Amino acid sequence: MRVSTLAAYVAALLLVGPACNPPARHAALTFFFDGVPPPKPPEPPPGQTDEAAASRKITYTEHGPYAAKACNACHQSTSSNSFVAPREQLCFQCHDFKLDKKYLHGPLASGGCLACHDPHSSQYRYLLVAESDTFCFRCHDRTAIESNPVHQDVGERCTECHDPHMSDNEYLLR
Ligand code: HEC
Ligand code: HEC
Ligand code: HEC
Ligand code: HEC
Ligand code: HEC
Repeated sequence: MRVSTLAAYVAALLLVGPACNPPARHAALTFFFDGVPPPKPPEPPPGQTDEAAASRKITYTEHGPYAAKACNACHQSTSSNSFVAPREQLCFQCHDFKLDKKYLHGPLASGGCLACHDPHSSQYRYLLVAESDTFCFRCHDRTAIESNPVHQDVGERCTECHDPHMSDNEYLLR
């Protein structure tokens, strides 16, 4: 190590001092060295595991064309509200979705993919607008559903038995 660098390092240490928070200190140190390890993440509060902390981290999944910045696959232009196709046909441009089952779910029959899916991105699986299957209760009355004996203790696992899109079986059963 050259003497001038060493002097600067000592000066930096004095400058950042003990009152400085670890990330700032780290920034000051890496200005001179590449070998300084990154600061440790803050300790989780007592009684809380790292896993619990990690599970709170929100990650978004982006829809294929949105991630590819192919905005004009759906929008006329990003500065207008008009789409390249009528709203209820927008999704069928790319998704070969045959509505060929005997029973179509209400919102699907009316072309309302957006009742359940976000066209851009989502923190939930399959670009859903809410945690599955809580979004079923946006339209279906929870009390009515739970009062049906077939729904005893089903919790919110609605799509285990029902297809959200369509089915050849009554009640959209899988
Ligand atoms: C798969 C089709 C699709 C793609 C691709 C897409 N959008 Fe959209 N976008 C929509 C739809 C549908 C809406 C209307 C949403 C609604 O009304 O709930 C919308 C709404 C919007 C809005 C209005 C505000 C909002 O978020 O609801 C903006 C701004 C927007 N899009 C920008 C973009 C940009 C920028 C891109 C490219 C990076 C993009 N969109 C790609 C379908 C798309
Ligand atoms: C420009 C073409 C295009 C349009 C229009 C389009 N999609 Fe997609 N969509 C894709 C591609 C590409 C994928 C990614 C396919 C893959 O990776 O399996 C995808 C994936 C999806 C997925 C699955 C995501 C996952 O996590 O598995 C859903 C749900 C979806 N699209 C819904 C919609 C809806 C709702 C609309 C209408 C608002 C729509 N798409 C319009 C191209 C399109
Ligand atoms: C009532 C809510 C709801 C509506 C309306 C809806 N979906 Fe879905 N969709 C879901 C759920 C829930 C899943 C997750 C897969 C499952 O549980 O079967 C899904 C999965 C998907 C997938 C990925 C898996 C697959 O089956 O290919 C695509 C693509 C998709 N939907 C497209 C659409 C399109 C296009 C429309 C409109 C024509 C639409 N969805 C309307 C709830 C809905
Ligand atoms: C955007 C509103 C909306 C959402 C969200 C929604 N539904 Fe529906 N659902 C309807 C409408 C509208 C009907 C048709 C009217 C009816 O029969 O009650 C329907 C009908 C049904 C039926 C058939 C009822 C019958 O008597 O034949 C079932 C089963 C069903 N939905 C289950 C679900 C499940 C499971 C979910 C979540 C994955 C869900 N729905 C989410 C609006 C919705
Ligand atoms: C264990 C399988 C199972 C699960 C999980 C399930 N259902 Fe059902 N559901 C059924 C069956 C079977 C029927 C047939 C109707 C009957 O026999 O009364 C039905 C009927 C329905 C109906 C039409 C009759 C009514 O009671 O209104 C709706 C709407 C419905 N389910 C929504 C839901 C929703 C929302 C969820 C999630 C909370 C859900 N189901 C979870 C099996 C299930």
